[in-house]
Amino acid sequence: MLKSTMQQALNEQLAREMYSSNLYLAMAGYFQSINLKGFAHWMRLQAQEEMGHAMKFFDYLLDRGWTVQISKIDQPPSSWESPLAAMEASLKHERFISQNINELANLAIKEGDHGTNIFLQWFITEQIEEEANVSEIVEKLKLIGDWKGGLLMIDNELGKRTLAPSPKETQE
Ligand code: FEO
Repeated sequence: MLKSTMQQALNEQLAREMYSSNLYLAMAGYFQSINLKGFAHWMRLQAQEEMGHAMKFFDYLLDRGWTVQISKIDQPPSSWESPLAAMEASLKHERFISQNINELANLAIKEGDHGTNIFLQWFITEQIEEEANVSEIVEKLKLIGDWKGGLLMIDNELGKRTLAPSPKETQE
């Protein structure tokens, strides 16, 4: 039995971040299967980043002396209709996550939990960046339409992504 509403809400977010990681790993598999190795590389790093987010919730729960409860994670899809469909699904998911983070911040304010509110500020900023990054890829894919050369150019560009420092490293 979890002690507080906030504790439970943070554990639910931990599960969502783990799902995000699995979703992007599934997308990496999809992109690799259609020979878009740059997209696949980008998604592999995205999956790693999401696991970093999950670990940040994990560590925070422990720092507060709360219980970590690892729940069952839903199975993500394994294929999408097109690269655009996959990236649009990613954008939709990130908007959902942003909404969750905002709701958590609202709860922290309502409960007067200043520590959790400060902890969540990093995620609020991160979500703006994540949505912007994915949105940019979606717009580029829309721009090129059916032009295969354009798709390969985007693939080449995404293949150059490097992993951003983990949340803990940027905060410490
Ligand atoms: Fe952890 Fe992409 O949000």
